[in-house]
Amino acid sequence: MMNINKLTFVSILITVLNFVGSNSLSAQTVWLDELDLSTATQGYGVPMKNKSCDGKTLTIAGETFDRGFGSHSESLLTILLEGNAKLFTAKVGIDDEVKGQRPAAEFIVNGDGKQLWASGVMRLGDAAKPCTVKLDGVKKLELLVTDGGNGNYYDHVDWVDAKFETSGATTFKTFNPVSSEVYILTPKPAAEPKLTGAKVFGVRPGSPFQHLVTATGDRPMTFSAKGLPKGLKINKKTGLITGVLTTKGSYKVTLFAKNAKGKAERQFRIECGDQIALTPPMGWNSWNCFAQEVSADKVKRAANAMVSSGLINHGWTYINIDDFWENHRDSKDPSLRGKLRDEAGYIIPNSRFVDMKLLADYVHGLGLKIGLYSSPGPWTCGGSAGSFGYEKQDAESYAKWGFDYLKYDWCSYGNVINGLPENDPYKVSSLSYNGGSELETAKKPFIEMGKLLREQKRDIVFSVCQYGMSDVWKWGGSVGGNCWRTTNDITDTWTSMKNIALDQDRSAPYAKPGNWNDPDMLIVGHVGWGNPHPSKLKPDEQYMHISLWSLFAAPLLIGCDMEKLDDFTLNLLTNDEVIEVNQDPLGKQATCLHAIGDLRIYVKDLEDGSKAVGFCNFGLEKINMAYADFSKLGLNGQFVVRDLWRQKDIANVNTQSGKLAIDVPVHGVLLYKFSSVN
Ligand code: GLA
Repeated sequence: MMNINKLTFVSILITVLNFVGSNSLSAQTVWLDELDLSTATQGYGVPMKNKSCDGKTLTIAGETFDRGFGSHSESLLTILLEGNAKLFTAKVGIDDEVKGQRPAAEFIVNGDGKQLWASGVMRLGDAAKPCTVKLDGVKKLELLVTDGGNGNYYDHVDWVDAKFETSGATTFKTFNPVSSEVYILTPKPAAEPKLTGAKVFGVRPGSPFQHLVTATGDRPMTFSAKGLPKGLKINKKTGLITGVLTTKGSYKVTLFAKNAKGKAERQFRIECGDQIALTPPMGWNSWNCFAQEVSADKVKRAANAMVSSGLINHGWTYINIDDFWENHRDSKDPSLRGKLRDEAGYIIPNSRFVDMKLLADYVHGLGLKIGLYSSPGPWTCGGSAGSFGYEKQDAESYAKWGFDYLKYDWCSYGNVINGLPENDPYKVSSLSYNGGSELETAKKPFIEMGKLLREQKRDIVFSVCQYGMSDVWKWGGSVGGNCWRTTNDITDTWTSMKNIALDQDRSAPYAKPGNWNDPDMLIVGHVGWGNPHPSKLKPDEQYMHISLWSLFAAPLLIGCDMEKLDDFTLNLLTNDEVIEVNQDPLGKQATCLHAIGDLRIYVKDLEDGSKAVGFCNFGLEKINMAYADFSKLGLNGQFVVRDLWRQKDIANVNTQSGKLAIDVPVHGVLLYKFSSVN
């Protein structure tokens, strides 16, 4: 009995071991869609399992597929194979759902840092291309889709029937090489007063003067100024300087702030002349957050939050209303419908904006300024009433209501110059680049509105928005623009932010006080164009975004829900040493002076002779090195190196013999200031 039992036990054990053994040795199939695809990053939308980017059946050149990964370039999925996969097979192509568009993309398979396969550039209608890649020994696999060289518009890309052959039962982990760790670098401001904000302010003779002296530190605080020119006064409690200057001139003023803990002073220059916006405008704009959901109430609440969050104490000034304050040509939303203009051609705001003057007064009452939006065409990009034919009345309305900023957005103007009937709503499409490549027509509407704004008896910052057509940076200043968009619209993805950043060097030489290149608004905090969600940029990417926009001397327009500011976002927006780089009175824009692989080093000359330097890691590997090529950055001599995010001196470097330890996270940045000690 005992023996039989033993025998049975042994035979069962052998059977089990055989089963396990054969299972771990025999080939198995692991489908890509069985893995966690949510770790993938992509240029638009979210990673889709067994569906296209838009959530439809995966379809390439008329052929449909049940299984696969639907994405959008630029797309990256990293898979840890740990040497356990033998083969990867799939078919790749652009999904038919973007019919009528001109997408292009390239599918790439990288193994342990080496390219193993590439599809070549694929276009809409190309048959699904088979991909077979041997993987023996590969530990880390990357499935990458690049934009095919023409931007990533409508690049809906599919990996279909994608699977791995493995040597045994196994499953693979996916991961994202960009860290999700949220960490705060900006030190809390001290209790003692510290004056912040712009060091120079431009005003035209005769225009109402409004400038808020800002400071951090305990409240109550009192403000004063020495050397204020005749015609101006400062409110001791709020720090608001108001009045009118009648004569042109440069005025040196000393500002003071005092509280129970101490006092601070700082030099300030007032330039009364033809030029305004002598430092890049800083503020908030409704578009990236609310888009067509904007209302006067939301604008007021954003203004209130600018004050209650303390952002106002760091120089943030403008509260800008974007599209959808006007009545709409065909919206189904009744609050956007109504008469576009009165008998005299003056625009009638929609029912959400009952009293523009009252709104402007409210915002001014908080010590802030207010901005508005329109288009030179009959319709804005969103289909609201534009200024075409009514430019004079519109400029007058903006001034009469008390607005300080106008974003003027090309959109349907392209159709006007092509001779389409300007008043037929259905024949004039929205966003259009038509005509923008002809220099004269590209300039025309901006010359006209620029002149009209200058004729008003108040200073209105003129923001030219036409996405960079006809190299706007070469002539934007000459048409009266204070800033001009150099790019298409930004979205809250790494691809979008990165591509815009990489495109800025060509326009950099044209930036100067009063004339700024605008790489579009900020995408930190809760953004989402009507559906706000936390920015999809990872924390390190957000540090890079704010650092670069500061180095670029870009207008800084917060695009998030101001009532949902969290500690991390506030940390990004309240670092006075970072903001000082952006607001530096010299008005230079950084360019990339040295690139080592994916490390790009941007340098911005500052007024005091020092340089702001951004070490930016655009790659997927951490960068750890001893940097010594200082001459490439224009640095020669002995320097104190200050980490601006941490607000700490971190090294003393001699550029002839010294080295600087650089440790930059994936998609992260080090923002340093090099000040000469000679
Ligand atoms: C364009 C602009 C955006 C925004 C919208 C409004 O797309 O580039 O910044 O103003 O129009 O419709």
